[in-house]
Amino acid sequence: MRLCGSTLSLTILSLVFCGRLACCLSPLDLKLAGITGEKLNAQFEALAALSDTPRPSVTRLVFSDWDVKARRLIKDLMRDAQLKVREDIMGNIFARWEGAEKAAVMSGSHSDSIVLGGAYDGDLGVVGAIAAIKALRVEGFKPQKSIEAVMFTTEEASRFNVPCLGSQGMTGYLNDHTLDNFKDENGSTFREAAARIGYRSSSNQELLRKAKVDPAAVAAFVELHIEQGPLLEKEGIDIGIVEAILAPSLLTLDFSGSGGHGGGMPMSHRNDPCLAASELALKAEQAAFSTKAFDTVVTTGIWKQEPNIFNAIPRNVHLEIDVRDTEGDRRDGVIQQIFEAAEEIAANRKCNLTKEIRYAYPIAKSNPTVLGAIQQSADKLGLSSKKLISRPYHDAAFMAQIAPTAMIFTPCKRGLSHHPEEEISLKHMVDGVKTLAYTIAQLAGSAAPSQAKSEL
Ligand SMILES: *[C@@H]1O[C@H](CO)[C@@H](O)[C@H](O)[C@H]1NC(C)=O
Ligand SMILES: *[C@@H]1O[C@H](CO)[C@@H](O)[C@H](O)[C@H]1NC(C)=O
Ligand SMILES: [Zn+2]
Repeated sequence: MRLCGSTLSLTILSLVFCGRLACCLSPLDLKLAGITGEKLNAQFEALAALSDTPRPSVTRLVFSDWDVKARRLIKDLMRDAQLKVREDIMGNIFARWEGAEKAAVMSGSHSDSIVLGGAYDGDLGVVGAIAAIKALRVEGFKPQKSIEAVMFTTEEASRFNVPCLGSQGMTGYLNDHTLDNFKDENGSTFREAAARIGYRSSSNQELLRKAKVDPAAVAAFVELHIEQGPLLEKEGIDIGIVEAILAPSLLTLDFSGSGGHGGGMPMSHRNDPCLAASELALKAEQAAFSTKAFDTVVTTGIWKQEPNIFNAIPRNVHLEIDVRDTEGDRRDGVIQQIFEAAEEIAANRKCNLTKEIRYAYPIAKSNPTVLGAIQQSADKLGLSSKKLISRPYHDAAFMAQIAPTAMIFTPCKRGLSHHPEEEISLKHMVDGVKTLAYTIAQLAGSAAPSQAKSEL
């Protein structure tokens, strides 16, 4: 057996294969002939057409009419792969292939988009998982563990200003605060918007209870995604193997002062919140540099001031600061520095300050067994690969908190994503989906045929 001599950390897999299955094909001996660029591309184009804005852009906010149509299309693809479809109370969609064991190797991503996004962010991982699983089925693979494709509800923060609601719900990170306080532009909460298309819950409690999955039911999770950056393409590498996901946090700070006439109020009498905010933005940059780590990034991305008039001193300034890192403690240290600086600045300038951590999600580290399976899959396909870190967040960041997880990245043209010109070559599409198929097959393992079972 191929895996018996492996020095990788696939010991458990090797035991399953070597102990029981001297007779059977290794998952890596499957041909995966069903995975072709033409078929995949047709599916991406069909999904991309379900958009509020014309091609090449894709605009598909969660629970919009187009999202409802995309969900229908995805469920059709799942049924076409002979998978059993179910949906949870949040609209996460699952497609199951029953193996000898109940616990499932899961793979998937999201199909919602930002406003004026592209055709592959998320969709590659959803369409890819279904195509990979279908190819395994068609070739007669018999999985030991069960296998599931998943489409997560609203990974993008485009509608509710908070990311990964579906995967947060599944992994127990969602809470009352998020459900009640994050609303769309028209004031609808997630539960209200979900109910409008048929995902009804009678209370936050019911939603939280029913959405949560039993970690024991998830044997592993793998997400295929475009890189959303230029590194793989630049270096001519086929497959990125994601070792960690830089988790986001978002701080909101409001400075307020007394305002006044921009001509009449002497400088010595002012408590200008815009100047307090300006000092803070510089302190936030310093806090990022203070860690001396390449992976610490801080962005003061939102700045709203009232009034915003040339001859009035502002009275309120609202800041939102995004802080990310690959080390949770280091990230939290930066948040602490920013908050302490804000207190000091507000005191010096006699401004009032309110501050809040909107969210601070955990860092996701990939699992060595899943990383090893991806590596072996890429090697088997003769693809060049490289370990890297994901700077954008993904549903995998939450799945990693409850199950052995890793991600597969494919190059995208010019590194563009969250952009109408997001593009991926047919070759990279096929390479990514085949790598995913082998990874899923290795993690699920090949079931012992019935006569072998009866000998045991
Ligand atoms: C908010 O309402 C407007 C007007 O009815 C509508 O065009 C828009 O799509 C709504 N936004 C969302 C996120 O549903
Ligand atoms: C600051 O807050 C205090 C207490 O709420 C309030 O009395 C005061 O007017 C506020 N000052 C400014 C400048 O907004
Ligand atoms: Zn995405």
